[in-house]
Amino acid sequence: MTLPIIEFQGLSKTYIEAGRSHLVFNQVDTIIKQGEFTVLVGKSGSGKSTLLNLISGIDCADKGVIKIKDQSLSGMNENQRTLFRRKNIGFVFQNYNLIPTLSIMDNLLLPLELTGQINEASIERAHDLLDKLSVKDRSNYFPDKLSGGEQQRIAIARALIHEPEIILADEPTGNLDEETGQNVLSLLDELVREAGLTMVMVTHSRDVIGLADRVLTIRDCKLVELDSFE
Ligand SMILES: Nc1ncnc2c1ncn2[C@@H]1O[C@H](COP(=O)(O)OP(=O)(O)O)[C@@H](O)[C@H]1O
Ligand SMILES: [Mg+2]
Repeated sequence: MTLPIIEFQGLSKTYIEAGRSHLVFNQVDTIIKQGEFTVLVGKSGSGKSTLLNLISGIDCADKGVIKIKDQSLSGMNENQRTLFRRKNIGFVFQNYNLIPTLSIMDNLLLPLELTGQINEASIERAHDLLDKLSVKDRSNYFPDKLSGGEQQRIAIARALIHEPEIILADEPTGNLDEETGQNVLSLLDELVREAGLTMVMVTHSRDVIGLADRVLTIRDCKLVELDSFE
């Protein structure tokens, strides 16, 4: 039996902007199971990034419960949520978010440095990941010397390096041409499945939707399951 890894119970989220409240989620319930690849689609401003930020504990719900691996994020303070995120979650962003003043290897080791996990085995893992992602020879470069596709592959390695159980990806191919994007996605899908990780990805790419186990969208502040991409 596959266990739930991410659970929302009665989750509501409102932003207050310029004195006006804007409801993004209204009483959302959902369960994402271990090892599932969920794709989140929907129009701009519908709340896709907000949902990822709620899962990662960067943002907080107003009402309801978010449980990750059976632990409620609402019961944690900001510091506890940060530590929990560093351990359990890997994030891939649209604009790669590599640190320009650090070499590729130092960018890659950063999540381990933050959790005090750098040792021989983890450095070996870093080299192995760069190899799998075909960017092994780039480890001493700085990010600005790399193409977009290469930078995103480094960002994928960085999201995986600390062996998190959950990968969150927010439009990871949004800045890449179609062919490069497809290549990056199939590598990400392969590595995530190989390790049995759970992934939630925001994307507009129809190719990814074909790889996903589930496709969700946000409609009227609720999460709705799509049987086929509309
Ligand atoms: N930090 C914030 N403060 C105020 N409003 C926000 C904030 N983050 C997002 N929003 C609003 O919430 C809605 C959903 O945003 P977002 O999750 O970024 O949408 P998407 O990723 O689907 O484009 C938008 O109307 C956006 O303006
Ligand atoms: Mg967004």
